Amino acid sequence: MSSLLQDLRGKLDNCDGQLQKLFQERMEIIQKVAAYKKEQKLPIYDPRREAEILSRYTGSEQEFFRTLLRLSRYEQSLVLFPYNIILIGFMGVGKTSVGAKLAQHLGREFLDLDDLLEKRLEMTISQYFANQGEGAFRREEGALIQELRARQGVVIATGGGAILNSRNVETLKQQGRLVLLTATPQTITARLQGDRTRPVLGGEVTEEGIATILSQRKSAYAQAAQYTISTDQLTIEEVVDAVLTSLAQADN
Ligand code: S3P
Repeated sequence: MSSLLQDLRGKLDNCDGQLQKLFQERMEIIQKVAAYKKEQKLPIYDPRREAEILSRYTGSEQEFFRTLLRLSRYEQSLVLFPYNIILIGFMGVGKTSVGAKLAQHLGREFLDLDDLLEKRLEMTISQYFANQGEGAFRREEGALIQELRARQGVVIATGGGAILNSRNVETLKQQGRLVLLTATPQTITARLQGDRTRPVLGGEVTEEGIATILSQRKSAYAQAAQYTISTDQLTIEEVVDAVLTSLAQADN
């Protein structure tokens, strides 16, 4: 290696060492911010504050700070909610949309089980149901849940039938808290109108069909749930806030 390159690399290592020290210092302050927010019941994500910080920078510097802010939110989220947050409930209650927003809010990774299964199976869930049947799908779903057993600090959206298996519930509870999202058959019917991706409904979305399956599953959902949020009148953002409020209240 030329001595010039060696010299430049030495300088970079020095920069990185300083960055690391500053990063550690920042994260220590963030821990204190998290403790304060926990006590005062303030939200982790303050969009105005983040926009203000980001407006000081442009281009790749802005990118750098965007990442830093996400890591800071993640660090705070572990102080306030030191467990996985797992959304359960019937089709159409908003598990995927709420989960994605919630994860963004907390700087966490979002795992959508149906999405992961579709990638793994290399086909849509409807196609898999049609080719292999529901039993095979449930085995794949259960195997995936077992594989995710060790994951920590994530937000998970389950498929609507995942918690019908008590082993899945036990496994998910080991690292996480189960939050049930609910909606009336009427709301679910309206939300799923025109949706052909739910094989359990047999390709047809009717209020009677939904009410029947919902009543068969109601007690399983209620038994698995550690928190319940009724989503009928709420926007996605409002459900996210309601989830965070219930989790925060439970620890006080
Ligand atoms: C199912 C719900 C689906 C998917 C599969 C089976 C169910 O997930 O896992 O079609 O049994 O309720 P969503 O609840 O995300 O639609």
